[in-house]
Amino acid sequence: MVKIIEATSEEFLFTSSADVRQQISSVSIEGDISWENTLRPHRFEEFPGQDEVKEKLRVFLQAAQARKEPLDHVLFSGPPGLGKTTLAQILAAEMGVDIKVTSAPAIEKKGDLAAILTSLKPFSVLFIDEIHRLSRAIEEYLYTAMEDYYLDIVTGEGLGARSMKFQLVPFTLVGATTRAGLLNGPFRDRFGIVERLQFYDRKALQQILARSSQILGIEGDDDGFAEIANRARGTPRIANRLLKRVRDYAQVKGSGRIDAEMSKYALDKLGVDRRGLDPMDRRILQLIGEKFGGGPVGIETMAAALSEERDTLEEVYEPFLIQEGLLQKTQRGRVLTEHGKKHLGLPEV
Ligand SMILES: Nc1ncnc2c1ncn2[C@@H]1O[C@H](COP(=O)(O)OP(=O)(O)O)[C@@H](O)[C@H]1O
Ligand SMILES: [Mg+2]
Repeated sequence: MVKIIEATSEEFLFTSSADVRQQISSVSIEGDISWENTLRPHRFEEFPGQDEVKEKLRVFLQAAQARKEPLDHVLFSGPPGLGKTTLAQILAAEMGVDIKVTSAPAIEKKGDLAAILTSLKPFSVLFIDEIHRLSRAIEEYLYTAMEDYYLDIVTGEGLGARSMKFQLVPFTLVGATTRAGLLNGPFRDRFGIVERLQFYDRKALQQILARSSQILGIEGDDDGFAEIANRARGTPRIANRLLKRVRDYAQVKGSGRIDAEMSKYALDKLGVDRRGLDPMDRRILQLIGEKFGGGPVGIETMAAALSEERDTLEEVYEPFLIQEGLLQKTQRGRVLTEHGKKHLGLPEV
């Protein structure tokens, strides 16, 4: 016979690590005043790009609200800086509910997870970043919470051990990962909504830049922003970062205004090439092209040669190089494409 008990977060706090306690007491999006949050859109209409994802989410949201149910659990995947965290916050804002933000490495023990889950308000959003890094034990502990909103708690040991069902409030888990492929099948299947974010096109990035420059009080014209958009690796976070650096150049070396000429000048100085490749992107292409005759090269060899983490290469750099048709992943390793060779100025075959 299972006993259903109601719990408050306080009862669980003592079992959780200091990290999680800190998060539970302090998590609030307003609390963080970093520039990234300043630029973060709060509503779908302030969020250009990802049109298909947005449209689906809007439908699912509306339907869930009409049924007075929480939104189904959502998994966002895609390279860093494309808007996974932002979309989680937008979902909460559109539903008018609270969001609690945490990340997998901060959830070390079952107690940590229990403390977080029991502190949720009904229908609120729990955002877990880097969700592919949850331990298997924690992941499995989440299953009942995701499916039926309860946790199994075992108290005592041996013959005296007792299992209790611990009732939670309905909530929506939003997970973000740069590596959807690393999630176990059974875990992934428990997300009703699974969306992969795509790199942004120039037009969307230009809109994002126009909005950001307004918020930051930066003066510029369409051509100036277009130049930054072209070279932002299809990524809003990079576009915003470049915008701020170009502003610095405009302020010190120009009139303060970002026009095409100023953008080009500053981006060249910053080492961002016409295609948006940064110095690390080029080092990767050069390594394969010049040291390994165009490939194939194994990812471990590349990581060692570049003194870079394999994960970073796979999650941060490769997706864009592949999407741009400069690099190819094959069974035997990474290969430079004809396009990639051309970009490096190597002779094509
Ligand atoms: N579609 C978008 N429109 C406007 N800004 C965006 C958009 N997507 C991302 N950003 C901005 O880019 C930055 C990174 O977004 P974030 O959601 O943290 O990315 P991720 O979680 O995927 O790494 C934030 O400052 C965010 O405001
Ligand atoms: Mg994020």
